[in-house]
Amino acid sequence: MQTHEIVIIEGDGIGKELTEASLFILKEIEKKIDSLQINFKFRDAGARFYELNGTNISHETLEDIRQSDALLKGPVGLPHVRFSDGTEAGLLGGVLRNGLDVFANVRPIKLLPGVEAPLKAHPGEIDYVIVRENTEGLYLSRGRGVGNDSAMTDTLMITRKGTERVIRFAFDLARRRSGSPKSKTRRVTCVDKSNVLASFALFREIFYEVASEYPDIEHDCMYADAAAQALVMSPSDFDVLVMENFLGDILSDLGGGTIGGIGLCPSGNIGGKHAYFEPIHGSAPDIEGQDLANPISQILSAGLMLDYLGEHKASELLSSSLYMALDNGELKINAIGQPERGTRHATEAIANALLELY
Ligand code: NAI
Ligand code: MG
Repeated sequence: MQTHEIVIIEGDGIGKELTEASLFILKEIEKKIDSLQINFKFRDAGARFYELNGTNISHETLEDIRQSDALLKGPVGLPHVRFSDGTEAGLLGGVLRNGLDVFANVRPIKLLPGVEAPLKAHPGEIDYVIVRENTEGLYLSRGRGVGNDSAMTDTLMITRKGTERVIRFAFDLARRRSGSPKSKTRRVTCVDKSNVLASFALFREIFYEVASEYPDIEHDCMYADAAAQALVMSPSDFDVLVMENFLGDILSDLGGGTIGGIGLCPSGNIGGKHAYFEPIHGSAPDIEGQDLANPISQILSAGLMLDYLGEHKASELLSSSLYMALDNGELKINAIGQPERGTRHATEAIANALLELY
């Protein structure tokens, strides 16, 4: 029996409420599955940490993450905590994504049972994954903007190595899935703006090269503006989408909006050696400490982590109990994506379903 060493960063805003919820569920699952053993190591990082220490994460914490099996992270960042260049100081995307070289940001967008989406869709009709390139693209310019107070420029970097590996990741993922809800065909869609920018033209050229290695998987390409419309008007066409960093950031929140809110959306940041798991959304300071936050994004992120650790039975138990709580009406999500009876009640509803299932 292997004990998994997991680092926890609660983060800012609603981060504490969310990580508490996901830890509660993980510990319940641990009680049910004898072979599952997890050690948790709590570390601080983010905007509050920056206010106190002048840095958003310590070297020791980074080393702890490198030595661990995975990191489960709450959202970080507070809009008023900024560097002198005007960007936010509490965000960890640069230091973690590039520092750990976790190049694939996996963002499942799935309409869950019992959730009334703003779109006219039923569960099973929206089920795709956005694979967002995580280490280059426009965000590689973080901290490197050039200019002065009259003009600033940020550079979008696409490399062959970075593009090939994330596109391969997307095709490998498509092989393990069962295709788009509409046609059941396994397909990877490349989303770019290669009609306008040479960087995206290279991204698309490499996409076609890699696609030729996967004759069993369909492939197609779309411009990002058209993709934004298609994700709203015909989401059941999609299976796996792969795109540059900035586009993936924007389109995954759009996808979250179509399935009932970003509070339902988990993600995994996965590389060759390291991985970390977090909701796709931010620290939602507008609802902090009010028992309003939807814990599903964080709980499903823990589920993705269990899968990454090879604990598939535990991950299945986690999603089945969530689906059951949603199905039997114990857990209801309102029209603005919050759990009707609060964060704590939502977590208890999932834990109760877990007891019934096992
Ligand atoms: P946000 O994602 O925190 O919130 C956007 C809207 O969604 C708000 O109305 C919020 O109440 C709602 N929302 C988000 N998560 C929710 C949940 N679990 N349940 C219910 N409602 C939820 O985006 P915002 O307000 O633009 O950013 C707040 C802070 O988060 C900023 O400092 C930003 O930079 C940071 N951020 C951090 C991320 C990360 O740690 N990975 C990702 C995105 C933003
Ligand atoms: Mg985002």
